[in-house]
Amino acid sequence: LKRTKIKHLLQENEVGQTVNIKGWVRTKRDSKNVVFIALNDGSVIHNMQVVADPNRFGEELFKSIHTGACLSVTGEITPSQGSGQKVELAAAQIEVLGTADPEQYPLQPKKHSLEFLREIAHLRPRTNTFSAILRVRHAMAYAVHKFFNDKGFFYLHTPIITGSDAEGAGEMFRVTTLDLHNLPKNEQGGIDFTQDFFEKETNLTVSGQLEGELGAMALSEIYTFGPTFRAENSNTTRHLAEFWMIEPEMAFYDINDNMDLAEEMLKYLVQYALDNCMEDLEFLNQRALEEEKNKKQEERSEMSLLERLRFVVENDFQRLTYTEAIDILKNSNHNKKKKFQFLIEAWGADLQSEHERYLVEKHFKKPVILTNYPKEIKSFYMRENEDGKTVAAMDILFPGIGEIVGGSQREERYEKLKQRVQEIGIKEEQVWWYLDTRKFGTAPHSGFGLGFERMILFITGMGNIRDVIPFPRTPGNAEF
Ligand code: 4AD
Ligand code: MG
Repeated sequence: LKRTKIKHLLQENEVGQTVNIKGWVRTKRDSKNVVFIALNDGSVIHNMQVVADPNRFGEELFKSIHTGACLSVTGEITPSQGSGQKVELAAAQIEVLGTADPEQYPLQPKKHSLEFLREIAHLRPRTNTFSAILRVRHAMAYAVHKFFNDKGFFYLHTPIITGSDAEGAGEMFRVTTLDLHNLPKNEQGGIDFTQDFFEKETNLTVSGQLEGELGAMALSEIYTFGPTFRAENSNTTRHLAEFWMIEPEMAFYDINDNMDLAEEMLKYLVQYALDNCMEDLEFLNQRALEEEKNKKQEERSEMSLLERLRFVVENDFQRLTYTEAIDILKNSNHNKKKKFQFLIEAWGADLQSEHERYLVEKHFKKPVILTNYPKEIKSFYMRENEDGKTVAAMDILFPGIGEIVGGSQREERYEKLKQRVQEIGIKEEQVWWYLDTRKFGTAPHSGFGLGFERMILFITGMGNIRDVIPFPRTPGNAEF
């Protein structure tokens, strides 16, 4: 008998069929004449209730079945007497595939803290919360590909190991095969990287954008979707040292086309989750509501998770310039409300997360697209505006998340870009190939990057980015 997934059995009417299921025990309830086992195989948030007659199987069998054990159960699907489920499985055969010693198994059928679960990241997918998040994460990855494929964008695989620093922020993890205890020296007394594997300095990519631009300058519209790495101080609830980024890059798009695409994509992803992940979202919605109760009144959000998701799909994002945002911040009465206490920055300063949260959560109460930032606080590749002071950058800010997307129209003018590269002190031998695209058939083009985990945070209503990636990498954490 072939295994059937529990999701299928709970959705289709299979009453009277004899089936086999396999999965992990969530709970076991014994009584003299009946044993109930809740079995979960991860295909769906719900368990299949297995009903067994202890007199038929003998007591010994059930002594070896505890929370966490893996079972194969064959039996008949019958209507359930219980209130929790429509059908259950009347066991005819039970095989223990793997036991789990209750003295040692860390997951007990009770609520564990997220902090504790992070310490057992190898087992946390066995919980309702994490299995729901992982299923939603899967659906979102699929939706990303579907969105772009349907639009005729091509998925471009950009390298993980690079010789450049796309963001120019110097937050790279080095890649080397040199013996760290015995580094070869060059004539200047520095490290002789010509003896390294790639015969030059290399690092893990911080972004696939620069290579993505090369793709757009031939295929017109591409996107990347891969892991990116930042050795920045990522000890916040919004930063990971290893995160996944989606980076579309489009020839012939200006900054407005870029904003339109980003807004359309974000709405599409949220709508996809609402259409395809409702069982998990309902569970996560309930979970988020319970979390809210533990917060102080002023910290509570006005909408539930599901309301927030629907709101994003149904409302236009607020678009404004950095300069307009600074004016709003200057005129705000933020100091009267404790939650939004912040210093008003002068024009030219980067916005802090308190500023972003004020704009999104207090002032506009909707997602915001900020454009035209001062060029000094943005990356070298962004297109300079007519005023000579700002660049055609765009950041999208989401409630509860802050920056979810960063992007820009790119500087397509060779002389301007070359000048900027020199001003900032980027070595031309690192980016000569990038500059080449501006020499040979340059074209206006734009793109952006969506932090995948920040999107999953928004969609699942979770509060910490470590809880929306299976194996989080943060300072001091690479155990699993
Ligand atoms: O704003 P960022 O640094 O932009 C870029 O990397 C551009 N190359 C994107 C582009 O134009 N193609 O990063 C883009 C997004 C941020 O808005 C944020 O959502 C996410 O990536 N992000 C992080 N997510 C998790 N952990 C981190 N340490 C992140 N840093 C950025
Ligand atoms: Mg950014």
